[in-house]
Amino acid sequence: MKRRDFLFASAAAVSLPLMGCKMGNHNTGTVNANTGALKPLRMPQLLTGTQFDLNLQNGSREFIAGLSTPTFGINADFLGPVIKVRNGDTVNFNVRNNLAETATLHWHGMHVPGSADGGPHQAIASGGLWQPSFTVKQKACTNWYHSHTHNKTGEQVYRGLAGMMIVEDTESDALDLPKTWAEDDFPLIIQDRKFNANGSFNYLPSRRDAMHGMLGDTFMINGTVNPYLDLPNKEVRFRILNASNARVYRLKLSNGASFKQIATDNAFRETPLNLTSITLSPAERAEIVVDLSQLQGQTLTLQDANNGNTPLLTLNVNKTAGNITAVPAQLTALTSLDPATAVRTRPFVLERIGGMNGSFAINGKAMSMARIDHSMNLDEVEIWEIRNAMGMTHNFHTHATHFQIIERNGSANNVAEYEKGYKDTVRLSPNERVKVVIKMTDYTTDASAPYMFHCHILEHEDRGMMGQFTVV
Ligand code: C2O
Ligand code: CU
Ligand code: CU
Repeated sequence: MKRRDFLFASAAAVSLPLMGCKMGNHNTGTVNANTGALKPLRMPQLLTGTQFDLNLQNGSREFIAGLSTPTFGINADFLGPVIKVRNGDTVNFNVRNNLAETATLHWHGMHVPGSADGGPHQAIASGGLWQPSFTVKQKACTNWYHSHTHNKTGEQVYRGLAGMMIVEDTESDALDLPKTWAEDDFPLIIQDRKFNANGSFNYLPSRRDAMHGMLGDTFMINGTVNPYLDLPNKEVRFRILNASNARVYRLKLSNGASFKQIATDNAFRETPLNLTSITLSPAERAEIVVDLSQLQGQTLTLQDANNGNTPLLTLNVNKTAGNITAVPAQLTALTSLDPATAVRTRPFVLERIGGMNGSFAINGKAMSMARIDHSMNLDEVEIWEIRNAMGMTHNFHTHATHFQIIERNGSANNVAEYEKGYKDTVRLSPNERVKVVIKMTDYTTDASAPYMFHCHILEHEDRGMMGQFTVV
């Protein structure tokens, strides 16, 4: 099989190892930066407080030695600051669009009014200013923000319009967890990219990439290719965000050691969970704690077991711990919605319509900003039954709130432990069915500012696999 065919074939099944991905890829005119020297992991700027000035801007970055990549960023050349907010605070943003094109900024995972959500209806014209304000009303968690521009989300996120948003509360303050920023508490924003020979991003070189989602052969964390971290010999916490357009990762440590998962998308777990690997589809988050106290002097890597154990991050245990932490046995208490109280079951079928030249769709309809697909009633418990009617992986994300996964393929036993808890995004392998229980709270919204639900493989979202709902 020729290299080109091989890349196409592997794109069809995201779990297929991309063997040879470390080689230069000259015959397709692309370059792979994963062969370069290790570089210290970049730490995004950390912003705290209640007033945030965010500038969407053009930039450039040397991801590959000697080559300059044109990029987008937020107050930076590529990606944006980590924005840390507190439950109960009212926060205000000045989002200025200094790009030459329309953009938006959506607060993924944040429980906010429709008008502050940053979806396609809150477009910011080139040169424009958007000033959303909302009160943080949710538990401590690791969320993110990213472009949600109609039909352009995939390209704008690929170029760099994304960042992490963290919620803290009195509970997270009090827990004996690693929480010293950049000492034992780290954001890990994982992405994959493909580069042209001149260093520019190679976004959607083929129809196949649009169909299966854009996969890259160069991996980066916080915008750093080949990153390493020097770490103290104690527990360290990673706030992991899969900010890739389409790739599903199965993260593990090279020494096979277990780690503790302490949070899902929208909250701490009630109790820590011991795992040796965790699967994250695009937009999913997990917070994990890795105990390095017995590993002084050792080096290990965080790897992607879905992709031939590709190293993503080198961890050097070479610093001496200051304060020691111990993950508590009880982290929080979650409110479980009782499926028996659901007033209806709403189906969502992820599919393709219109044949080869058609589009992606949900329930037979491709996304239209002019059509409201569902109306939800405030405070009513519902079951959403999501079915992947295709032979490729999708996932499903909803704005406005979190849900809890209650069944996979007809049984509660198929719900993995690591996806129990508050979630806003759920993976659906080919032809899978998932049931979640969900309730809209606090905010109503009309057709001028509806919430979105969609597949978070951004090329699918941009090509129709999305819909809109109001809350009345
Ligand atoms: Cu990550 Cu509709 O969003
Ligand atoms: Cu979202
Ligand atoms: Cu999809």
